[in-house]
Amino acid sequence: MGAGRAVAGYTIRLIATHDVAGNQVWIQRAALRDLPTIARLQRQCFPDGQAYGLATLLVLYWWPSVEILVARIGERLAGCVVGDAHRSQGRVLNLCVAPEFRRQGIGAALLDAIELVLSAEQFTLMVEDKNAGAQELYRRSGYLPVSELRHYYGRNRHGILMQKRRGDRTSW
Ligand SMILES: CC(C)(COP(=O)(O)OP(=O)(O)OC[C@H]1O[C@@H](n2cnc3c(N)ncnc32)[C@H](O)[C@@H]1OP(=O)(O)O)[C@@H](O)C(=O)NCCC(=O)NCCS
Repeated sequence: MGAGRAVAGYTIRLIATHDVAGNQVWIQRAALRDLPTIARLQRQCFPDGQAYGLATLLVLYWWPSVEILVARIGERLAGCVVGDAHRSQGRVLNLCVAPEFRRQGIGAALLDAIELVLSAEQFTLMVEDKNAGAQELYRRSGYLPVSELRHYYGRNRHGILMQKRRGDRTSW
C-alpha cells in the first residue's frame, strides 16, 4: 500500500494491484474527474433508485469519513467501491463491477482494498436477499448474515445485513 505512479503529472496513490488475464488492475482512490464515469457505471450495474448519481457521488467524495476506490484496467474503469468508517465501525456502502469484467476477482479485490483503507475493526454491509452472487462474494470474504430488514429495497425486496471482523475470512 502507498506506492504511487505518475499519470499526466499527478501521482496517483496505489492501494493494490490485481492481475486479470495478464492485465494489471490498479485499485486507487477515485479522482474528482472519475465521478461522471462512476455515475455511468452505477447506472449499468444497479436498478433505478439504487444507482448513485453524480450529485450523490460529489457529496460522498467530499465527505471526510468516506472513501471511494476505483479499479482501472488501462484507461477503463472496471469497478468501484464506496465505504465509510466511524471509530471502529466500517461500512461498505456500494460495490460494483462492469458486466464485461465480472467473475475475474475484481469485486473481491475492491472489497479487500476498501477494508484496507478504512480504519475500522468491524465491517457491515447490506445486500438484497435475491442477490445471491453478491452474497456469495461477501460470504467468501468472511461476512456473515446477522439480520434481515424487510422491504429495505422496496416492496418484497428485503435487505440482509452482513458483518465481519477485520481478518475474518472463510475461503478464497
Ligand atoms: C456483485 C459484483 C460486485 C461481483 O463482482 P465480481 O468482480 O464479478 O466478483 P468476483 O469476480 O470478485 O467474485 C468473487 C467470488 O464471488 C462469488 N460470485 C461473484 N459473483 C457471483 C455470481 N454472479 N454468482 C455466483 N457467485 C458469484 C464467486 O464465488 C466468485 O468466485 P468465482 O468467480 O471464483 O466463482 C458484481 O456482480 C456486480 O457489480 N453486480 C451488480 C451490482 C451489485 O449487485 N453489487 C452488490 C450490491 S450489495
